[in-house]
Amino acid sequence: MDQIYHLNGFQTKVSFTSAIDLSDIQHPIIVADKKVRPSLEKLMVGSIDKYPVFWLDATEENKSPDILKDIFRFMNRHQAHRSSTVVGIGGGITTDIAGFIGATYKRGCRLQLVPTSFVGMIDASLGGKAAINFDGIKNCVGGFYPAEKVLICQRFLDTLPLAVMQEGWAEAIKMALISASPLLELIRQKPLNIPTILREAVDVKMSICEVDLHDRGQRRLLNFGHTFAHVIEGLSEYSVHHGTAVGVGMRIANALSVERGLLLPSAAEEIGRLLDDFNIPQTLSVCPRERILAKGEAILQQDKKNVGQITLILLRSIQQGEVVEDVDAATILRHLTDYIAQ
Ligand SMILES: NC(=O)c1ccc[n+]([C@@H]2O[C@H](COP(=O)([O-])OP(=O)(O)OC[C@H]3O[C@@H](n4cnc5c(N)ncnc54)[C@H](O)[C@@H]3O)[C@@H](O)[C@H]2O)c1
Repeated sequence: MDQIYHLNGFQTKVSFTSAIDLSDIQHPIIVADKKVRPSLEKLMVGSIDKYPVFWLDATEENKSPDILKDIFRFMNRHQAHRSSTVVGIGGGITTDIAGFIGATYKRGCRLQLVPTSFVGMIDASLGGKAAINFDGIKNCVGGFYPAEKVLICQRFLDTLPLAVMQEGWAEAIKMALISASPLLELIRQKPLNIPTILREAVDVKMSICEVDLHDRGQRRLLNFGHTFAHVIEGLSEYSVHHGTAVGVGMRIANALSVERGLLLPSAAEEIGRLLDDFNIPQTLSVCPRERILAKGEAILQQDKKNVGQITLILLRSIQQGEVVEDVDAATILRHLTDYIAQ
């Protein structure tokens, strides 16, 4: 069944499907992760070979201005125009790049996304954020350009490496903890009902984006765990993956929520047990304390959410997040040190 969401004048139709049918798309230009080619050949209605496809090496290094130039040239070569549809097929790296192309080529053409990773299906393909990395800063340049259609085919997850799937669980737990939705109960059930979890997580994300596309209000809650995660990723020079960093970041946010008297210790323990169930590490050994204190603040200040002061998402209770703007860098770094110092 399709679900339609309205985001600031944009309309996104989310379709759950068991096969990828692009036959009704006007002048499609596909940007796809080359790793999903075998799955795509299996799941596609008709042959992928009849479409122009820019096959992408989906790495964070490639999520850069250089790749944009190559794709813009590919679009020119295929005489793309404003009514052409960019179709991004892949994980979050690919859909972020495709979104950027869709938003900017000829001042914006049509855009459809086919997420193939768990993070992509519940998060990255939804809500219009499209960005590339620049000068070593993640997602430094970008904008908001929601796809008109997002096609979710769970069968892509069959080939997703376990570690990458794990990254997605951290994001799903995050969504469950900041929203009053059935998602938390679904995540606690065993065995996990993935199709229902996918639908519910999509609904949580899109319902938040419907009221705050531009990330100035409620959408900031989706950054629960992320302020700490960005520092962990930066200090580890990206050897700690995003999902793991978010997972540990949520543990740190919990501790700080308790310290500030926002969250009951018993609730923090319950959250801790949920994170344990999904094998989120208790602590990480990232770097010496001195390095955290010396380098951490600069990374904190780069955070996109900050407008003058550091913006942090804490929990008031399970399923109720809160935007907090009066925590100083020293307090954040002290808590980080407890969890990630070698
Ligand atoms: N725009 C947003 O709102 C938003 C939200 C969250 C994350 N992101 C971005 O998304 C990226 C992280 O997302 P991700 O984890 O999907 O990253 P990704 O695109 O790097 O995918 C992870 C890995 O899985 C591989 N992969 C993807 N689908 C596969 C499949 N079906 N089978 C086998 N391998 C597959 C990819 O090639 C890659 O190696 C980051 O760049 C992040 O900044 C964007």
